[in-house]
This record gives sequence, C-alpha cells and structure tokens, in this order.
Amino acid sequence: MKLCMIGTGYVGLVSGVCFSDLGNDVICVDKDINKINLLKKGKIPIYEPGLSELVIKNYKNKKLKFSSDLKTSVKNSDIIFICVGTPTKKSGSSADLSQIYNVAKKISLSINKFKIIITKSTVPVTTGDQIEKILSKKNSKNKFAVVSNPEFLREGEAIRDFTYPDRIVIGSNDKKSNRIMKNLYSPLISKGAQYIHSSRRAAELIKYASNAFLATKITFINEIANLCEKTGINVEDISIGMGLDKRIGSRFLRAGPAYGGSCFPKDTRAITSTGDEFKTNLSVIKSVIKSNQNRSNILLKRVHEILKNKVKNKKITFLGVTFKANTDDMRDSSSLIMIPSLAKKGALIKYFDPTGYKKDFEKIKNVSYENTIKKSLDGSDLVIIHTEWNDFKSLNFKKLVKGKKFIIYDMRNIYSPTKIKGQGFKYFSIGR
Ligand SMILES: NC(=O)c1ccc[n+]([C@@H]2O[C@H](COP(=O)([O-])OP(=O)(O)OC[C@H]3O[C@@H](n4cnc5c(N)ncnc54)[C@H](O)[C@@H]3O)[C@@H](O)[C@H]2O)c1
Repeated sequence: MKLCMIGTGYVGLVSGVCFSDLGNDVICVDKDINKINLLKKGKIPIYEPGLSELVIKNYKNKKLKFSSDLKTSVKNSDIIFICVGTPTKKSGSSADLSQIYNVAKKISLSINKFKIIITKSTVPVTTGDQIEKILSKKNSKNKFAVVSNPEFLREGEAIRDFTYPDRIVIGSNDKKSNRIMKNLYSPLISKGAQYIHSSRRAAELIKYASNAFLATKITFINEIANLCEKTGINVEDISIGMGLDKRIGSRFLRAGPAYGGSCFPKDTRAITSTGDEFKTNLSVIKSVIKSNQNRSNILLKRVHEILKNKVKNKKITFLGVTFKANTDDMRDSSSLIMIPSLAKKGALIKYFDPTGYKKDFEKIKNVSYENTIKKSLDGSDLVIIHTEWNDFKSLNFKKLVKGKKFIIYDMRNIYSPTKIKGQGFKYFSIGR
C-alpha cells in the first residue's frame, strides 16, 4: 500500500519506517527541511534504539522516502497518517490543534482519488469530526474517510512496541476504511496483536483515557512512597505486593520523580479540558495533575534536607536528565524543574546524559555538561540519579572517584541501600 506520514517525529518516523519494513511504500513528510535532508543522508534526528539501521535499510531499497512536499506526497498516496504535534495551548490546558488543522487544510487541496486520512497524533474527542468538515469543504464525501488510529508506542522501545503492540485501535465510522486498515495491519495481527474496531470518537478517547490511567498509576505509587518514607516502609515491597494482583499489575507502579515526557503531562491536561468542555468534572485526573506538579517540589525539599539546607556552592551531579531512559526527549522532564531551581539557589550543577548535551540548560548559570560519568562525578557533594539508564545501573562509585565520598540520592531506586552504604556512601532513595 502507498502510505504518507505527515510529521516525521518520534511517531511519524518510527511508524513510517516500520510500515515500510512490512513491505509498504512509505513517504515521510516534514515541514522541517533540515530534518528531511538529514534523513536523506541516513542521519537520524532523534535517539531511538534500532531506528537508524531500519531507516537505512528501507531507504536503500526504496520502500522509504523523505520529502518536504506535502501536496505531491499526499496525491501519490492512498493512506495518509497525520503524525504532527498536539502540545498544550500556550494559555489554558487544552490541546493546541493548529498543526492538525493546518495539515488537514493542505490535504484537502490534494485529494485526487479515494484516500483514508488517519490521525495517529493524539487528538481530543471530536477532532476527527472537525477534520471531516475541513476536507468536505473542498471534496465530496465519497473521496475520503477520516479514521482515528492512536499510537501507543513508547519512546526508547518504539520499534518493538510498533511491531508487537498489545492492541491496534481503529476508530472509523465506515466499513470500507475499517477493512483497509485491518488489511494494512494484518502482518501485526497475525503475530498476535489484538485488533479493536470502535467508533472514531471512542478511539480518540481510548488514547487519552489510557495515558491518564498510566499517569494515575505512577502518581498513586509516588504518593504511597511519601507515606513509606514517613513510616519506615520500603515502597518496593508495596509495589511487589500490589503488582502481583492481576487486577492491578506491576507495570507503572515504581516510585520515582514526577512523570514527564511528551505525552502524559499534555494528555492529562487535555483530557480534563475536554471534560470541562463537555461539563464533566474529571476530578481524579485533575488531582493527579496537581500531585504530579507538586512531586518535583517534594523531591527538591528532600534535596535541601539532605544538604542540611546548605545548597549554595554545593556541587550537585545529575546522572541522566531525560524524562526516562533510552530517549533524548527532554519534553516536560522533571530535571527541567529541579536543575534550574537548585542552580537558582546557588548550587553548582554538572550533568551527564548518554544522549549528550542539552540546549535546555544553555542559559542557566552554573549548569554545565560533562561528557563522561567520571568527569561529572569529580568533586561532587551530591549525586542525583535522575534517569534510569543502564549506564548508571552498575557503577562502582568507590573506584570512579577515589577519596572523596559524596552523598547519593537515587531517585530511581537502582541500588541496594545496604550495599551502597556498606561502601561508605551516604545514600538516599525514594520511599525506602
Ligand atoms: N512521542 C511519543 O512517544 C508519542 C507516543 C504516542 C503518541 N504520540 C503523539 O503523536 C503526535 C506526534 O508526537 P511526536 O512526539 O512524534 O512529535 P514530534 O514533535 O517529534 O514530531 C512532529 C513533527 O511534525 C512536523 N510537522 C508539524 N507541522 C507539520 C506540517 N504542517 N507539515 C509537515 N510536518 C509537520 C514537525 O516538524 C515535527 O517533525 C502527538 O500528538 C503525540 O501526542 C507521541
């Protein structure tokens, strides 16, 4: 099948490449010409394990193409996936759908034969209806179908998640597009993926409800961790004890910093805004957002306590700054709150991240990047393990920094408190 992915970011690039690897002819379009030129040279603009090899392979065998010409690419394709960003609006908490509608208007000028237009971007309930209206202005209704196919891949695991998804959700209000979509996904269905067909609006809501639920799970265990810290209980015991109940499950039940990333923060905000629009108070999700916003303050307060309220001129190392491991994505990472706050209080911050230097801290005084773990630890008073990269999981701190003993605040509970304390380090972690 001939596919066009509009928006060649984390979702558009990964799903486009994977669809091409399944034998489809895919053209990935982006308005960012630099991105397209890089990709044409075989250079990958994002960090995603395994992506580079797949891009090069499918680009070479011409199943995958890159272009900044949206109109021609749409004309030459049968199935169009919209994969552009849906960030929070600058004012308020609803989703900014300007990129979506902008693309829909451009598509409406390029419909030369029947096409399926799909939102793979996360879009609020009724967005599909709006896209349909935009397309109808220039085209008769039998020339297109608008479908919702939310994407559930996780950055860092994106290729595996795309190839072996738990479920494929297709929301369409007509039989023809459902048949075509089922056929497109048949290689994944035959490998065991569940195919779920629903109304378009239901598919849109399934995505938001799923993300809001996962964000709730994380926030729930983070609050339980706060109680564990006050009562001398190990939160890991609680996670195991709860997670083994099949109705609960152990995933997303590990205490740590505030949830971040390009999805949970904006999607929880957007769904509450949709609720308000439809006069439905989503009070659980609203309190999750509030609790998560407060999470970084709680951890910062702990940092101040650990340093006996003497933060000024203290050398603090951050190991990992991305919102989670195996991605270079900094969007809404809790490090963006914690690092500036500590720097403002006079701390001298060094950070190391396996995905390198981050522009986000460029303008913040007293924050510097080190290109090795060893250099970042050198002279440190406090080491904060912020992101759960494998690179940080078996460090021999004693060997890395001879002599000086720093304090460790392990926000991911990677290390065993007894082992690390046995090596002579002061060690703090989350909920234990
Ligand atoms: N990142 C994830 O892990 C993830 C997972 C599931 C769903 N989603 C959803 O998928 C959507 C995209 O997310 P992302 O992380 O891939 O975003 P992204 O910012 O990485 O990529 C979006 C791309 O769209 C391009 N773009 C914007 N307007 C365009 C236009 N008019 N024409 C062509 N290209 C255009 C941008 O240049 C950018 O490269 C969002 O709605 C997000 O919520 C993301």
